Amino acid sequence: MCGIVGYTGLGLLPAETAALEQASPKASEHPLEVALEGLKRLEYRGYDSAGVALVGPDQEHVSFAKKAGKLGNLVAELEAQPLPAATAAIGHTRWATHGGPTDTNAHPHLADDGRLAVIHNGIIENFAALRRELAADGVTFLSDTDTEVAAQLLAKEYRASGGNLTAAMAATARRLDGTFTLLAVHADDPTTVVGARHDSPLVVGLGEGENFLGSDVAAFVAHTKEALELGQDQVVTITPTSVDVTDFDGKPAQAKRFTVDWDAAAAEKGGFDSFMDKEIHDQPHAVADTLLGRTDEQGNIVLDDLRIDEAVLRAVDKIIVVACGTAAYAGHVAKYAIEHWCRIPVEVELAHEFRYRDPIVNEKTLVVAISQSGETMDTLMAVRHAREQGAKVLAIVNTNGSTIPRESDAVLYTHAGPEIAVASTKAFLAQITAAYLLGLYLAQLRGNKFPDEVAALLDELREMPRKIQTVLERSEYVRATARSMADEDKVLFLGRHVGFPVALEGALKLKELAYIHAEGFAAGELKHGPIALIDEGQPVFVVVPSPRGRDQLHSKVVSNIQEIRARGARTLVIAEDGDDEVRKYADEIFWIPQSPTLLQPLLAVVPLQIFAMALATAKGLDVDQPRNLAKSVTVE
Ligand code: F6R
Repeated sequence: MCGIVGYTGLGLLPAETAALEQASPKASEHPLEVALEGLKRLEYRGYDSAGVALVGPDQEHVSFAKKAGKLGNLVAELEAQPLPAATAAIGHTRWATHGGPTDTNAHPHLADDGRLAVIHNGIIENFAALRRELAADGVTFLSDTDTEVAAQLLAKEYRASGGNLTAAMAATARRLDGTFTLLAVHADDPTTVVGARHDSPLVVGLGEGENFLGSDVAAFVAHTKEALELGQDQVVTITPTSVDVTDFDGKPAQAKRFTVDWDAAAAEKGGFDSFMDKEIHDQPHAVADTLLGRTDEQGNIVLDDLRIDEAVLRAVDKIIVVACGTAAYAGHVAKYAIEHWCRIPVEVELAHEFRYRDPIVNEKTLVVAISQSGETMDTLMAVRHAREQGAKVLAIVNTNGSTIPRESDAVLYTHAGPEIAVASTKAFLAQITAAYLLGLYLAQLRGNKFPDEVAALLDELREMPRKIQTVLERSEYVRATARSMADEDKVLFLGRHVGFPVALEGALKLKELAYIHAEGFAAGELKHGPIALIDEGQPVFVVVPSPRGRDQLHSKVVSNIQEIRARGARTLVIAEDGDDEVRKYADEIFWIPQSPTLLQPLLAVVPLQIFAMALATAKGLDVDQPRNLAKSVTVE
């Protein structure tokens, strides 16, 4: 939710500004450019409105601009009404919580007679009480936002501290309940940006004579790959030549240094029409990179950062996967694989439900938290809840420097690279891959599988990127089918076993991208109710398991197809190459290469992703930034 960027640079110190301006008239625009570039890369976090605030030498007030709507509106506003030269900047792209997406409610919010500007990500829960307190002091509020309350409180603390923005930020942070990242600049100190974080992300980018702040590294990766991961409840003060971190009591604190392992180019469209299309095409690499380097010289699987004793893992008697949305569907796939390979019961639970239902968790429970962003608040809260009760938590996360891995006992990073399109695609495949690795790791550790069995399964997994590539090469038929279905208003998805979470994910993609009512069902559940939805011409996608698989899965699904066809459904079938049986019952077939049943989700979901994207595109919708959504849901 909400993207935040902060910048200050040495080249723009007052003494050097004149020389720099002479050498390059654009130099003094640099902070604004950096902020806008950062916002462009962060826009996927929220796109209801955007704004920037700048401070510069000899400027009595903060200069700022803010606009409802996408970033383009702000850029047009800045072109029409340019802001003066600056030395430091903060920028914000908003996903509205308190107060609708209007110009007034957009960030920054100003206080101290226009000398202080604040941007915020999160929700300040005690804002109503603070607003009353400040109103009683004579403060007049211009917006409906909780952020303006934080800005006014910061102004009050700034005066109380005798003009020390860092101390004022710490004092403000101590008074706020809820979740927040705050950034502030003050006209008195035009080369300083101060930030604070509590349960909301903030990372520092370390430059040469310049420093950066961002909700995630995408904000500054075009300028530096060296970064600091701030801890919980920390205040950071950046100037062009220094980064100081304290806790909320003002005591010096440590932040963990790391190097970003992807390039700015990875967060660009690379010739595709949308980030989503590019990310769908990145999937063979996302899976291959997630598998890369996971075995030691003896061929044993190794996890990245394992702070759990092997004896504890051997004693685990239950696994609970906690996650939300697409990541939870990856967890559903994990359940089938881990139970089959390790014989440990696996529950999969939406993190927000887990957190509030008093789950039975103890020191023999392994909680697996799956998250692309590593910042999803619901999942983070579930992690904390599990650990408080003695469970060990292993995180499967894509974003280095994020909160969930830091608060977990072990981490298995997915290496999908940055995922910019709001709806998840390549992260899903990477999460499933990491879950398979975890299953094989536990099977190896607990002796459920012999090393050569694990090696054979790993070999099968290593074949999957090539097979995903084959599915991508067959995508034109899927796209054409999607274009012909742009007027549909209801689509159903069926699957059994690991095909069930694939059906759920196919339906979610279609809802998110094309705003079409779509439902996924376990195929066996159909006759217990949902079959009533089928009438003449109703499109139904069916994920068909391998005919070479076990347990008559294939024949059961083929029967389900016959049942819905008999009631008029139009069947769109995902089936394995060579499945002649299913051909008879399908109106359309999207072929995928043969694979072991448990691994099939990595292939079967790809046509469904492409279908949703192509149909949304045919409807003229923005597939990268669907309405009402944000990439990283950092509020509960
Ligand atoms: C759907 C989607 C969401 C996320 C969910 C969890 O396309 O992207 O459902 O999967 O919000 O996000 P992370 O994985 O960042 O925890």
